[in-house]
Amino acid sequence: MIFESHAHYDDRAFDDDRDVLLGSLKESGIGYVINVGANPETTERTIALAEKYSFVYGAAGVHPSDTGELDEEKFLWLKEQCAHPKIVAVGEIGLDYYWEEPSKETQKKWFERQLRLAGEMGLPVIIHSRDAAKDTLDMVREFYEGEAGGVIHCFSYSKEVAREYLEMGFYFGIGGVVTFRNARKLKEAVEYIPLEKILLETDSPYLAPVPYRGQRNSSLYLPLIAKEIAQIKGISYDETVAVTERNACRLFRIG
Ligand code: NI
Repeated sequence: MIFESHAHYDDRAFDDDRDVLLGSLKESGIGYVINVGANPETTERTIALAEKYSFVYGAAGVHPSDTGELDEEKFLWLKEQCAHPKIVAVGEIGLDYYWEEPSKETQKKWFERQLRLAGEMGLPVIIHSRDAAKDTLDMVREFYEGEAGGVIHCFSYSKEVAREYLEMGFYFGIGGVVTFRNARKLKEAVEYIPLEKILLETDSPYLAPVPYRGQRNSSLYLPLIAKEIAQIKGISYDETVAVTERNACRLFRIG
């Protein structure tokens, strides 16, 4: 079964058909979904989805762009959620320098706290990193002391950066961007990264693959991503699906 390692089904884009869509995933070969929180509110909705659907698991965390709203009280609440039996990771957390707000200082402060939290709770991390390759790498090295490892979600950096994370045993989330015609650098990275370190993801409702680029994304489009990876690596579609499923089950300790 296909393992969807990163989606946001709590998003308003799914308000009209969330239950129908989630209910249809199994028959389309999607066996697992990690729904990823981006702030306290979406983490709460993530837990509700994970409690409702047996195949949905959750990540609890605050996205760098939402760290401006964090305080000690909310951080304590987040820590409590990490003990929920269906919370399998801390995420998505990281650094996003594409946007000027919140400040780098604020983003770094809460990234460090959440990396330490994951280590303390024995959970893997789901990392969001945009235009911040070096700082993200330095901080993961310095502040993540867990054994569980993690995944660089929507990996968008070079082979050289991939090598650094591979040495730390990290996984790489590969999504719709890999199908874009201009994604040469990413295709090269996918060729380089061993299949044993790749996870399939969509980041739904964002980043739909070709030919749905620009439209609402969903896990139903994961076969398009798996096909592209299979083609780049010169292996079969079935092997791509089977190995990435095993990878995700190992990282998130499912099954
Ligand atoms: Ni995301």
